[in-house]
Parts: sequence; structure tokens; C-alpha cells
Amino acid sequence: MSVENVGEIKFSDSLTAFIMDWKEKPGNLIMILHKVQQEFGFISREAAVKVSEMINTPLAKIYGVATFYHFFKLTKPGKNIIQVCMGTACYLKGGQELLEELGTLLGVAPGEVTDDELFSVESVRCVGCCGLAPVMVIGEDVYGKVLPDQLPEIIAKYRDK
Ligand code: FES
Repeated sequence: MSVENVGEIKFSDSLTAFIMDWKEKPGNLIMILHKVQQEFGFISREAAVKVSEMINTPLAKIYGVATFYHFFKLTKPGKNIIQVCMGTACYLKGGQELLEELGTLLGVAPGEVTDDELFSVESVRCVGCCGLAPVMVIGEDVYGKVLPDQLPEIIAKYRDK
């Protein structure tokens, strides 16, 4: 069995080539996990096992890196990722209230996915438009000066998409 076929998950040829290219280089784990997340949207257990086998690195080390950096997602995100900024400006202007209201509306806490897999909610650091605080980002769309009572209408747009 060739190395690319180890495990159940199938990596694209370009991902496989990238991993083999980075296999021996310092700092390779972050680069490789980044690429895996780009391809799948998250790092599944199958993907982590496969990477571990491909680069001869213990699975525990891979999870050590994947869990250390907030950037990496270990569970499949919802179709729409709702990011609520919790940077200082947004926090002071009501970011926490937005998260709480989303929790009530969608029944999920930050880091969780709705049962219908339509939404996941994340609390993120400053997204760089503090003048619009509190800020929420859904996919490519940025919402500024968001009030909790605007959330049902905003969410409905994505539910119907
Ligand atoms: S703190 Fe939220 S955009 Fe900067």
C-alpha cells in the first residue's frame, strides 16, 4: 500500500504532495495542518491519523499542535460560520450579549454546531474593524453595530439560502 492510501480518508494529490514536501522540514506540522484544514474545513480524526502515519509523527503530537492554536478546528463547522468578535472594543460594546442571544436563538455555545449543521458559532479576536463594534462576521459578510434584536432577521437570511 502506498503512503497516500493509508487510512480511510482520501487526500487530494496536491495535499499529499505538500505533506511529502514538508515531511522533514522544521515547523512542518503547522503548515501541514493548515493545508489539511484548507482542504476539508477542519481536521478530522481520520485526517490527523493519516498525517501522523505519513510523516511518522505520534498522533499525540499532532493533537498537541492542533489544540494549542485556536485557528485549527477539530470538528466539522456548520454550513454558515458565525464569528462574534470578542476583541476589546466589541466586548465593551456588547459582543458578549450577541453570543448569549445567539445561544438562545440557535441553542449552541461558541465552538458548537447546530443539530441541522447550518450554523456554528465562534468567538474570535479583533477582526480589524473596531469602529463598527460590536462586529459579527458570517462567511464573507461583515455586520457592524449589531444589536441582539437584529439577530433573528440576520440569521433568517442564511437559513433560507
Ligand atoms: S475589537 Fe472587534 S473589530 Fe476590533
